[in-house]
Amino acid sequence: MHVMFVASEATPYSKTGGLADVCSALPKALSQLGCKVSIVTPLYKCAREYFTHSNERLESMYGVTLEAVVGRETKRAGVQRTKLSGSEVDVYFIEHDDYFNRDGIYNNQGVDYSDNCERYSFFSRSALELIRVLNLDVDVINANDWQTGLVPVYLDSIYKTRSRFEYDSIFGGAGRPRYDASVRQGANPFDRIKTVITIHNLRHQGRFWRGAMDLTGLDWSLFTYDKMEFYGQLNMLKSGLVFSDAITTVSPKYAQEIQTEECGERLQGVLQTRSQDLRGILNGIDVDEWNPATDKAIAANYTSETFPIGKPKCKAALQREMGLPEDPNVPLFGVVSRFDPQKGLDLVAEVTPELVEREGAQLVVLGSGERSLADHFASLARRYPRNVAVRNYFSPDLSHRIEAGIDVFLMPSRYEPCGLNQMYSLRYGSLPLVHNVGGLYDSVTNASDENIQNGTANGFVFYWCNADDMMKAIRWALHCYRDRRDDWTKMIRRAMTEDLSWKQSATKYLELYTELVDRK
Ligand code: ADP
Ligand code: GLC
Repeated sequence: MHVMFVASEATPYSKTGGLADVCSALPKALSQLGCKVSIVTPLYKCAREYFTHSNERLESMYGVTLEAVVGRETKRAGVQRTKLSGSEVDVYFIEHDDYFNRDGIYNNQGVDYSDNCERYSFFSRSALELIRVLNLDVDVINANDWQTGLVPVYLDSIYKTRSRFEYDSIFGGAGRPRYDASVRQGANPFDRIKTVITIHNLRHQGRFWRGAMDLTGLDWSLFTYDKMEFYGQLNMLKSGLVFSDAITTVSPKYAQEIQTEECGERLQGVLQTRSQDLRGILNGIDVDEWNPATDKAIAANYTSETFPIGKPKCKAALQREMGLPEDPNVPLFGVVSRFDPQKGLDLVAEVTPELVEREGAQLVVLGSGERSLADHFASLARRYPRNVAVRNYFSPDLSHRIEAGIDVFLMPSRYEPCGLNQMYSLRYGSLPLVHNVGGLYDSVTNASDENIQNGTANGFVFYWCNADDMMKAIRWALHCYRDRRDDWTKMIRRAMTEDLSWKQSATKYLELYTELVDRK
């Protein structure tokens, strides 16, 4: 089984959020289950920089050129490749400097690039060209989010419809295919490929002016309400949902939520129609990268046995690093997040005065994104310099130190397809306090008396997304922290021993791929 991931981000080469973590950790886990796996991703400036600063090697595939039609032009891309560190996963980078060698991935200082439709149509098409030119034996393509929504459309409406002969004569230029004639004589190698699209976030759909259809090189006959059209616009995610053989999303709860009017982002109809082919599979985490026992970024390593010794050292180091008074007894809350309305951080800002003035707690925030939220947190840090510390940038190392050093991780997301940070928190024994949605619902069990008794509690949950309800949950967490130390310790142990690895989820993806491949 050869599975190809087509993804607009993949750690460690590029990342704006959890999509990147998933698009390298899941391939790695599938490869450990015996699949052949490859990843196709753009060669962004940050990816080049990664190779300049690491000992990993980027190998240029000289002589391989991909061609893709964009509007009236044929554009060419180069290909570079590497192995995903510590794995057998092949990573192919699509190299096109005009499109990808830019400072930001999707935007420049918060403003989306105006040619994103063009960039990701080109990228999607290039992934299929890569299969053709390198004659890759792919069984399943797993596309991810709107950026790769056109992959199933191109496959279905261009690549599968041509005979091999037609194909070579049309596309045969730059990188001629090297088909293995004995295996595939006359066959169209794309015929057997099945497609899955994974929804990481339904809100971002890649909606563009209808005229952008011309850029995609796809036929206007596809611009209908049951295919690519969406309220007069071109919708790249919807296109992927319609044309894929199967759809997955990143938690079982979110799979239900997105079929409702409340959370369906106006695509609930499409998703309901395809509900037989839609599966919610909870993300895992990379338990090697996020391992408090071996993590080099944190002040002291610890396990589910030794956390009473290691975690206080991490807490003290974090307080020092963030310029807060070093005090083992003061409850320390933390946030690591994109600053985006999705994340409900306005609620954190709203409860901060009470958290500080009445409860004497500390809060550390690491985040980047929306300016107004960054300003709001900055003003809270100025108002409470002994209690609140804020860092407004992207720093994976600091995010590890926060996960290790805090007592409670705050994640009041309005919606959350899966969420990784609550799982990183569990792994580091920092109890998550979450709103009851999506993947947060699926991964955090509230510290009710009953759940504490029966040993399932691993965090705190609130049910209505407002500051009052969140504050109630915080007060309960503080009561447990201060007055029920044995229960607190028990919950940390429970959290740290949860199986959060990708193994179970990767097995579910593999089952799905196998079903699709076996399907006639
Ligand atoms: P989303 O993908 O919606 O942002 P997730 O919880 O799935 O939410 O994943 C977020 C990922 O991005 C995590 O790996 C988190 O550690 C990381 N992250 C977010 N903001 C920052 C930041 N400012 N610095 C470092 N890592 C961050
Ligand atoms: C998205 C979602 C987040 C999820 C991540 C990885 O960015 O917002 O909930 O964990 O993708 O699937």
